[in-house]
Amino acid sequence: MNSSSLRIGVFDSGVGGLSVLRHLIAQVPQASFVYLGDTARVPYGNKSFDTIARYAAESAAFFRTQSVDIVVVACNTVSAVALPVVETIAGVPVIGMIEPAVEAAVRTTRTGRIGVLGTRATIQSGAYEMALYAHAGSNNVVVFPQASPLLVALAEEGWIAHPATLAIIEEYIRPLQEEHVDTLILGCTHFPILADAIAEITPMQLIDPGDCAAETLGRMVGTSSNGSIRAPRVEYYLTDIATNFAAIALQFLGFEAHPIHRIELDHTVMPAQRP
Ligand code: DGL
Repeated sequence: MNSSSLRIGVFDSGVGGLSVLRHLIAQVPQASFVYLGDTARVPYGNKSFDTIARYAAESAAFFRTQSVDIVVVACNTVSAVALPVVETIAGVPVIGMIEPAVEAAVRTTRTGRIGVLGTRATIQSGAYEMALYAHAGSNNVVVFPQASPLLVALAEEGWIAHPATLAIIEEYIRPLQEEHVDTLILGCTHFPILADAIAEITPMQLIDPGDCAAETLGRMVGTSSNGSIRAPRVEYYLTDIATNFAAIALQFLGFEAHPIHRIELDHTVMPAQRP
């Protein structure tokens, strides 16, 4: 695949996927990217599986109008709950967050005791647990999932090193420390933003699924880069443009997000629909 003509669709429930996009651009800087954030309906992480699947179907259908070569589901919640829906509708290869992170976690752990932080829906789906046990075998790993919904709002608020954030991280991490977890998957797009704060509280090895997915993309398209980002080619499509979008985007992405287009998704797409 010629990476300079490659067009990659990236989607998330909102702004969090920008933390993934940053890694994707660093990995394949020659490609062009179409970022879709369903900012009008974020967060997905506390919605029912049916609703998440319906929203994911609508986003996948959007990419069919965009002539993309690959779709990256830059949202752990959608990857956990509705990846097959996206694969069915997108009609191109799809990379989710879970498999790449699971492979990295299994490679990294020394004790086999792996923790997962995620939204309520991600944790309730059991997707990370199932993938870890499938990948490593239940004799080799033990998985400790922990829903951590409050961290999403704190990251968006920019409370990266705030004492309140540290206190909440401590509360979520404590049960995992008691279980002697040595490797922790940051299974939500917002949590890598808090990696320094998490590292202050625990020496666990942290796994960033966005970084792992970018490596998978690099292997898939056969390109490698030195990680520098120069003149990224990205179009941004959002279902709502909130007044604080630019500030949050800068924090998640590391550079300004533009051009931005506001769009409506086609609400008639059903999850079961086939291409
Ligand atoms: N992007 C979501 C995830 O990675 C977090 C935000 C949400 O709940 O929609 O799980």
